[in-house]
Amino acid sequence: MSDRIHTLSGYLHEYQKSVAQPEEFWARIADSFHWRKRWDKVLKWNFDGPDVKWFLNGKLNITENIFERYLFTIGDRPAIIWEANDPNEAGRTLTYRELYHEVCRFANALKSKGIGKGDKVIIYMPMVPEAAIAMLACARIGAVHSVVFAGFSSNALADRVNDCEAKAILTSDGNFRGAKKIDVKSVVDQALEKSSVETVIVYQRTNQEVTMVEGRDYWWHDVVANESSESPAEEMDSEDMLFILYTSGSTGKPKGVVHTTGGYMVYSKYSFENVFQYSPGDVYWCTADIGWITGHSYIVYGPLLAGATTLMFEGVPTFPDCGRFWAVVEKYKVNQFYTAPTAIRALQAYGTTEIEKYDLSSLKVLGSVGEPINEEAWHWYHTHIGKNKCPIVDTWWQTETGGIMVSPIAGITPTKPAYATLPLPGVQLCIVDPEGNELTGNSVEGNLCIKFPWPSMIRTTYGDHDRCKQTYFSTYKGMYFTGDGVKRDHDGYYRILGRVDDVINVSGHRMGTAEVENAINEHPKVIESAVVGYPHDVKGQGIYAYVICDLTNRTEDNLINEIKEMVSKIIGPIAKPDKIQIVPGLPKTRSGKIMRRILRKVAENSLDNMGDTSTLLDPDVVNKIIEGRQ
Ligand code: WTA
Repeated sequence: MSDRIHTLSGYLHEYQKSVAQPEEFWARIADSFHWRKRWDKVLKWNFDGPDVKWFLNGKLNITENIFERYLFTIGDRPAIIWEANDPNEAGRTLTYRELYHEVCRFANALKSKGIGKGDKVIIYMPMVPEAAIAMLACARIGAVHSVVFAGFSSNALADRVNDCEAKAILTSDGNFRGAKKIDVKSVVDQALEKSSVETVIVYQRTNQEVTMVEGRDYWWHDVVANESSESPAEEMDSEDMLFILYTSGSTGKPKGVVHTTGGYMVYSKYSFENVFQYSPGDVYWCTADIGWITGHSYIVYGPLLAGATTLMFEGVPTFPDCGRFWAVVEKYKVNQFYTAPTAIRALQAYGTTEIEKYDLSSLKVLGSVGEPINEEAWHWYHTHIGKNKCPIVDTWWQTETGGIMVSPIAGITPTKPAYATLPLPGVQLCIVDPEGNELTGNSVEGNLCIKFPWPSMIRTTYGDHDRCKQTYFSTYKGMYFTGDGVKRDHDGYYRILGRVDDVINVSGHRMGTAEVENAINEHPKVIESAVVGYPHDVKGQGIYAYVICDLTNRTEDNLINEIKEMVSKIIGPIAKPDKIQIVPGLPKTRSGKIMRRILRKVAENSLDNMGDTSTLLDPDVVNKIIEGRQ
C-alpha cells in the first residue's frame, strides 16, 4: 500500500506533487492496478467541450482488479458481510472467492439472455448482496449498470429506463424496510408498460406473490442454476462507460451522470484507502443505499478494489429500535462507520440510552456524507459514538465527482467541527465570486469550483452532452461548477455551506425544485406552484411548496393530501413536500419571474428582512403569503 498517506507532512507533500505534476502523480497511483494494456497517455482534457479522458487507450476490467487481483492472496477474507433488515434473520458473509463465483455465475446468466458490452441494465433492488453482485456482473461483461434507488416510484423508474434505453432490469419480488414489506416487482411492471426492456430478472427476497411475464421475466435462482462459476472478464477501454447514475439538478428531469472505467477505478480505491485509513482485517460499514453514488463508490467499488471487508445493511436505523446501528457495530466489531448527518440528527433525538447498551470500542473512524453536518450533530457524533477518540471525516463530494473531494484523512488531518477541511490530492479547488473571479487567499466565501480534472469526474450526461456543458462548465469559464457555496477560513480550511442553485438536499437526497413543481402541477386542480427548501431539524432541509389551486368544491386539507400523494406517486415518498401552503398568487416580477428569495424567507420564517420587493407586479401578494404561512 505504497499510495497510503501516513502523516500530515506526507499529505501536504503528496498534494503538492499532485498539483505540480498531475500526470506523473496519477500514473504512479494507476500503476498499482492491473491493466491488460497500459495507457498511452495519462490525461487529455479541455473544460470547454467538455472533453476529459484519463489513461487513454488503457485496457482493463475493473472486476479483475477485485477478483483476479485478490483471489490467491485474500480469497478467504470476507468481502461482503450482510445484515438483514430483521435482526433475527441470519446474516450472510461472502468471501472474495465466493463473491467472485457468484458474480461469474450471474455474468454468465446475463450473457445467456443476450446482454453484452455496452448494453444498459437497470438495477432496482433492495440492499442485498445480489445488488452488488448485479453491479459487478455487469462490469464483468462490459454492460453499463444504472442503479435506481428502490424507493423511487414507477414513473421515476420508467423515466430512467427510457432515458438510457435499458435492455434489462434486475429487481426483486419485494423489499423489507423496517416493519414494512414493500412491493417492488409490481412497481417494475407498471414502469415497463411502455418500454423496450426485453428481460427482467427477479431476486426472490420476500416470497410475496408476483406476476411473471412469460418470455420476459425470470427468477434469479433459475437463471444462475446451471451457469459456470467462471466467466472471463470483457476487455474494456479506460474511457468505456462503467455506469450511469441519475441525479437531480436545477432544471428539468434527473440527468444520467456518466462515469467511465479507468479513472473511476483509480480514484474510488485511492480515496477510500486514504480517507478511511482502512487496514487489512478491518470491518468497514457505510450505511448508504447502493442507489446513490455513496453506495457505488464506498460500499461496492472503493472497498472491494482495496480488498476490504464491506458491510451491507438492508434495514433502517430505527428498526426494531433506535439502537440498531449500534447493535450492528457491536455485532460485527465495525472499525469504520460512515453515515449521513440526517441519520445522526434523527438518532440524537432519542438520547443516549440505546447507545450505552452497546460496546462501540471497535470504532476507529467515523464518517459523514451527503449534506453539511451542523456543529451540534458533529459534537454529538464525536462524543457519544466516537467517545472522543475517533476522528470524524466529513467528506464533501457529489454524484458528478465520483469520489470524495474534500475531507480530512482520518487521524492525520486535524479536524474542525462542520468543516470538510482540505482537498484530497489531485483536487484543485477554486472559490469564485458571482462574476467568476477567483477569490484567492484565506477568509473568503463564494461559489465552489474545481479547475483541473480528476480521474473520477463526470464525463457527460447520458444522451445530452450539451446539458453537461451547460450545467457544469458554462457558469464559470474553464471551471467545473459544483453548485455549492463554500467558505475558506483563516486556516485555509473549507466549510461547505450548501447549494446555491435550485437543488434542495432533503435527508441527504438531492431534489430539484423544478422536478417537485412538475409533479405537483400534474394535479388537475393545481394552477401553478413554487417549491423551496427550508431548514429542518432532522432532514437538513425540508420541502415547502406554495401552490395556487382551483378550490371549487374542494377543501384545502384534502387537496393538500392529494398533492402530497401525487408527488409520492410521480417521484417517490422522499420527494413529498413537508409543507404545502395554498396561496392566492406567487410573488412575480413584471417579467413574470418568481422571486424565490421571498418564498425562501417566508419558509424560513425570517420575515423582518424581505429585501426589495418594489419590482414585484403585486407587492401585496407577499403579505397574503406571510399571513397564510404554514
Ligand atoms: C451535498 C453525495 C456538505 C452538497 C455524495 C453536494 C455535502 C451534494 C457533503 C451532492 C458534505 C455532500 N458537506 N454538503 N460533507 N456531502 N454534500 O450527488 O450540496 O447525492 O453538492 O452526492 O450533497 O449530493 P450527491
